[in-house]
Amino acid sequence: MADCPGYSLSGVAASLLFILLTVKHPDEFRVVGPAHPVLTRVGEDALLTCQLLPKRTTAHMEVRWYRSDPNTPVIAHRDGAEVSGLQMEGYRGRAEWTEDSTDEGSVALKIRQVQPGDDGQYWCRFQEGDYWREASVLLQVAALGSSPNIHVKGPGDGGVQLVCTSQGWFPVPEVYWEDTREEKLLSFSENHVLGEDGLFYVEDTLVVRNDTSETISCLIYNHGLKEAKEATIALPEKLQTELASSRVIGPSQPILVQVGENIELTCHLSPRTDAQSMEVRWVRSHYYPAVHVYVDGAHSAEEQMVGYRGRTVVMSDAIHEGNLTLRIHDARPSDDGQYRCLFGKDGVYQEARMDVQVMAVGSTPRITQEVLKDGGVQLRCASDGWFPRPHVQWRGRDGKAIPSFSEAFHQESEGLFQVETLLLVTNNSVVNVTCSISLTGGEEKAARFPLSDSKIALLWMALPVLVLPLAMAVDLLKVKRRPKDQKHHSNQQNLKNDESHRGLPSDKKLWL
Ligand SMILES: *[C@@H]1O[C@H](CO)[C@@H](O)[C@H](O)[C@H]1NC(C)=O
Ligand SMILES: *[C@@H]1O[C@H](CO)[C@@H](O)[C@H](O)[C@H]1NC(C)=O
Ligand SMILES: *[C@@H]1O[C@H](CO)[C@@H](O)[C@H](O)[C@H]1NC(C)=O
Ligand SMILES: *[C@@H]1O[C@H](CO)[C@@H](O)[C@H](O)[C@H]1NC(C)=O
Repeated sequence: MADCPGYSLSGVAASLLFILLTVKHPDEFRVVGPAHPVLTRVGEDALLTCQLLPKRTTAHMEVRWYRSDPNTPVIAHRDGAEVSGLQMEGYRGRAEWTEDSTDEGSVALKIRQVQPGDDGQYWCRFQEGDYWREASVLLQVAALGSSPNIHVKGPGDGGVQLVCTSQGWFPVPEVYWEDTREEKLLSFSENHVLGEDGLFYVEDTLVVRNDTSETISCLIYNHGLKEAKEATIALPEKLQTELASSRVIGPSQPILVQVGENIELTCHLSPRTDAQSMEVRWVRSHYYPAVHVYVDGAHSAEEQMVGYRGRTVVMSDAIHEGNLTLRIHDARPSDDGQYRCLFGKDGVYQEARMDVQVMAVGSTPRITQEVLKDGGVQLRCASDGWFPRPHVQWRGRDGKAIPSFSEAFHQESEGLFQVETLLLVTNNSVVNVTCSISLTGGEEKAARFPLSDSKIALLWMALPVLVLPLAMAVDLLKVKRRPKDQKHHSNQQNLKNDESHRGLPSDKKLWL
């Protein structure tokens, strides 16, 4: 029969379709990772493994190791060869596929010379066709830092301050203080800084009474490695040293500088002492990194904060009298704030604190007039280049303050402030206004609107001709100026609306 083969063929096709639809993936599998995190020290090689279950060869599969995005893997393998293409940044040349026992379904990723940034979760994904399974592996990176240093400050009013410092830790370690009886002492403050090498510097402060006749230890402990580093000092000995009975005198008044000028921070020892064998450091809130470190007649550059590199010089002519000056070139807004200068020797230091106030007087404000969609009018006053954040004030013809509709401050990348303030004009008595921008110190820049009487006179003459028809059509201004109820508007050219500033007049907006 002619139609018999056709009938049986479509029957076969139907059964095939049936099989495809109902039978699950023939090669179901799962993947397991190690039960515990893989602990590896910085600089050593890490080996991450994953196991395919049931055990069988992975030769025909695609296996990819990735961190967050499977499409940019640390490494990927397909049919026994590395898949070239997008590789996650930082692993080129360091990630290695190890063939160990791929026949048994065990795959391994070797990361050479582990860095702090390698710390965290990894995924291994096994894929066959469009069926895949994956497992996660936690890589725990650890680094044991340097032996701590204990610096003793004092004695001062509040007692003796001990600062324990150490660097090269990962992750952030725990810091303990102990006395002779191994009793824990409470830290006054803890601080850590992430260095450019990805490792942590730690700084921990302890305050004790000046009559503590004991040895005190600082212990820094890495949890992953279960290892600690320790330093111990005998406090009474330290308090016998020369510096313990000296003082450091700094500037008594805040140092005021304009952006771009030089800052000079002078400190001297009292009584006068030769400081040639001392370490002198200028710092901000913490011991490290420093603004500048002067030791053995030279600058210790590796301890310097990035923001001060290439901008500092020490004047040490009077070092024999213990008098040194740090000059910071080209003052920036970020230089504003408190500084300390520390004179140190044999683990004991004394310090003086000082304030630097940086300021910048910005541009003369510019006032522009704008017509809003609802017909209202607003004046916009803008200026930039201020530091610190300036005060903004509108004033009327009579010199009285007028509340602004909104004020917005924006800090530029160099830290200088841009300011913009809006005034809604509802009443012609505010047409002659001043926008004033000032610093607390008294420096002020102001602009008046309209700019000059001749200009305004010109506008008054031009207005009825140029603007009136339009103004009437859209009912722009609800301002009564002249007896005949004429409506005014000026300077139509530069008008634009700014939705971002709109709102209820009572609603003062402030952006930082
Ligand atoms: C400790 O402090 C007390 C009170 O502040 C003071 O009288 C004493 O001289 C100080 N001792 C030392 C060793 O500085
Ligand atoms: C320290 O040196 C600076 C400049 O070198 C000088 O102006 C200042 O008077 C000196 N201070 C003392 C206390 O000698
Ligand atoms: C605007 O006010 C200033 C004083 O604040 C005054 O000298 C000037 O004449 C006024 N101009 C107009 C057009 O009212
Ligand atoms: C116009 O503004 C001035 C000052 O803000 C105010 O004293 C006066 O009452 C206002 N007049 C009207 C009609 O709103």
